[in-house]
Amino acid sequence: MNLAQSQPAQPQQNQLQHPANPAEPQASTFNHPDRFIQGWYWVMPSRPLKCGQVQPVTILGRDLAVYRTAAGQVAIVDAYCPHMGAHLAEGCVDDEGLRCFFHNWRFDSQGVCTDIPYLGHALPIRITTWPVVEHYGLIWVWTGDAPPPPPPFVPELENVVWDVALGKPFVHNCHPNVLMVNAIDAHHFNTVHNFPIEIVFKNEVVNESAIMFSNTTRGGDESWLVRLIQPFYQHEGTYSMCYSYGSTGTVTLGPDFLHFYIVFALRLGPDGTTEGQPIFVTQRRSGVSGWLFNRVVLWLTQQVGNYFAKGDTKIFQTIKFDLKTPLKADQSILQFMHHVEGQQALQYGSWEAVTA
Ligand code: FES
Ligand SMILES: [Fe+2]
Repeated sequence: MNLAQSQPAQPQQNQLQHPANPAEPQASTFNHPDRFIQGWYWVMPSRPLKCGQVQPVTILGRDLAVYRTAAGQVAIVDAYCPHMGAHLAEGCVDDEGLRCFFHNWRFDSQGVCTDIPYLGHALPIRITTWPVVEHYGLIWVWTGDAPPPPPPFVPELENVVWDVALGKPFVHNCHPNVLMVNAIDAHHFNTVHNFPIEIVFKNEVVNESAIMFSNTTRGGDESWLVRLIQPFYQHEGTYSMCYSYGSTGTVTLGPDFLHFYIVFALRLGPDGTTEGQPIFVTQRRSGVSGWLFNRVVLWLTQQVGNYFAKGDTKIFQTIKFDLKTPLKADQSILQFMHHVEGQQALQYGSWEAVTA
C-alpha cells in the first residue's frame, strides 16, 4: 500500500488523516509478495525428526535440508551439494554431519567439508548453515546475517517452564502481514466475532523486532455476557497481541485467574500466500493432576483459537488488502504497518537483504 496516498479530501469524525506523518515513505515491505522481515521462522514440528534423519524443506522460497545428528542436534543447510548440485536431503546423516548420496562428500554440522572419498581428503569448501532452535515443539530457522536474538516467546511466560500443543498447519491465500492485522482490527471484533465490548488498543515496543498491542477497555455493562464474566476481570478485559517480525504473533487472553496463550507462527509462502502453524502454550504444572489440567487448558486454548479463526477464514481467501480509508479504529493497523517498515527486509528465495 502507498502510505503517502489515499488521504481523504475532507476527513470526517473518526476518520484518520492518512498517514499520520505525510512525509512517511511508501510501504515497501508490508504485504509485499517477495519480501519478509529478517527473523526466526517456523520450519516443522520437532518430534517427527528423529536422530539420524534428514528431510527436504522449502522455507520462504529457499530449498534446505534439515537433519538431526546422532547426538540429537538439529542442523539446517542449503539444499544443493557444492560438488554437482545433488539435493543433500537425498543423502544420509553421518554421526554429527551429513553425507551427500551422489559421491559421498561429507559436511559437518557447521557446513565444513570433512571428507571427499575420491580424493581421500577434504577440500576447503563449506555449505551454508543456518542458526536453528527447537522451541515450543517446533524447529525454527534464523534467516539473516545478524546474530540471532531469542526466538518469539509468550511475554507472560518468558522465564517460565511451559507446556505446549501444536494445532493443524494451514495455508491462506493472503500475505502473513495481512493475517496478522486481523488480531488488532479493533472494530471487526464487534462485526465478525460479536464481541459485546469496544476494543481500544495501546501499543508498546518490546524490542526492535517486537511490538505489543493491549486492550484498554472494560465496558459492555449492558451485555448479560459481560456482566457474567466481569467478576473474573479486575481491570480491563485481558487481550493482547505481541508481534515478532511482522508474521509471528502471540495472543494472550482470558480471565485474571487463567490466561490462554496462542502463538500464530506464520511465514510467507509462494505468490504472497501464508503458511501457518498455531501453537498453544501454557505454563507447566507439576504432578499428574497438573499434567491432566494442562491437557484441558491446551484443549480449551485450541477451542478459543478455532473460535477466532472461524469467522474470518473466508475473508483471507479473497481479500486484496488496501487500507484506503483508515478510521480511528484502524489506528493500530497503521502503527503495525509502520513497525514492519522499520525492520530489515529480506528477499523471498535468496534471503538477501533488501537495501533500497
Ligand atoms: S553431488 Fe554431492 S558429492 Fe557429488
Ligand atoms: Fe478475526
